[in-house]
Amino acid sequence: MLRYLTAGESHGKTLVAILEGMLSGLRVNPAKIDKELKRRQAGYGRGKRMEIEKDRVQILSGMRGGKTLGSPIALSIPNRDWKNWKSVMDPVRPSKEGKVTRPRPGHADLVGVLKYDQDDIRNVLERASARETAARVAIGAITKILLSEFGISIISQVIQIGRVKAKVEGLKIGEIKRKADDSKVSCPDREADRLMAEEIDRARRKGDTLGGVFEIIATGLPIGLGSYVHPDRRLDGRLAQALMSIPAAKGVEIGLGFRASELLGSEVQDEIFYEKRKGFYRKTNNAGGLEGGVTNGEPLRIKVAMKPLSTLQKPLSSVDLITKRKVKATVERSDVCVVPAAAVIGESVASFELANAMLEKFGGDSLSEMKRNYAGYLKYLK
Ligand SMILES: Cc1cc2nc3c(=O)[nH]c(=O)nc-3n(C[C@H](O)[C@H](O)[C@H](O)COP(=O)(O)O)c2cc1C
Repeated sequence: MLRYLTAGESHGKTLVAILEGMLSGLRVNPAKIDKELKRRQAGYGRGKRMEIEKDRVQILSGMRGGKTLGSPIALSIPNRDWKNWKSVMDPVRPSKEGKVTRPRPGHADLVGVLKYDQDDIRNVLERASARETAARVAIGAITKILLSEFGISIISQVIQIGRVKAKVEGLKIGEIKRKADDSKVSCPDREADRLMAEEIDRARRKGDTLGGVFEIIATGLPIGLGSYVHPDRRLDGRLAQALMSIPAAKGVEIGLGFRASELLGSEVQDEIFYEKRKGFYRKTNNAGGLEGGVTNGEPLRIKVAMKPLSTLQKPLSSVDLITKRKVKATVERSDVCVVPAAAVIGESVASFELANAMLEKFGGDSLSEMKRNYAGYLKYLK
């Protein structure tokens, strides 16, 4: 089984990630990890921090000569901004900086200080910050490489920002990728792309923030990943958990999602067909590629709703932790809209879950062993 841990504060020295359970013999080019890290930092609506941080991964262990060894893979992503925060974030010496005492509504600020018995919100916000997701994207990049060895790829598209909804019905998957890559907000609908950027500019001028919706699409998945036999083995549940754990994610829809609830069964279920060349297949994909918590061979399609970001340049009302007086919430340097970045994180965390499900089903300690197992299964399916 694959598992990972991340560590690191937003303005600390570095982010750290350990990936355990990866098989041996997988060629990993660090440039591919850096490419994903760069994608996470892009997107119209990001703030100044992203201009400072140009993330680059350092591989500390678990690889030799460009290939994985089967041992834990340790990664580090240094925070470039650390040099300006050394005294504030020193792990040993107390900081002389003033404490942050005005919690921002919508962040972990208030619940965090109460839960962990803190009197400085910085002790909460540094770890609660979405900076941590850079470590998850680095892990996801490695699992993406594993999936690509089996012809599985995963892409994403932004389909809504604020009230602007894209028209993406009927687009082919290749087209989605090409057009989304071309867009500053990762949206394949050219007109929506323009309107979304305007919406972001408007929110920025007002000192406000925006949310939206992105969709991830994985193709090339075999029938049979995940299981219905126990709740914690259902792949739909695992993917939903992974995607909901993205900061500011507030909803996950698989396939038709909430829309299925208002339709008739005959309009929703995907009828089953068979051809010798293709095997079992469907002509529709309302299930989003999952039935009974198991992949059904159709593309996996999951939408994620993101709330508008919590830190407002025109801050909302709050209460000072010490004086208990009504105040305006703290203003930290902040993004206006991160839906394009969240889509990249979505790809990463979903890749991790899919790679884990592939390893569970086809196992093996080396890539060559897993490939033998996979080839045998594909033969059996036909
Ligand atoms: C890539 C990314 C960047 C983010 N940047 C910010 C930010 O600059 N300002 C902010 O207020 N929230 C930002 N967030 C959202 C907060 O991290 C999140 O809302 C907060 O941790 C509270 O968690 P919750 O919204 O899931 O309850 C970002 C989220 C993501 C995914």
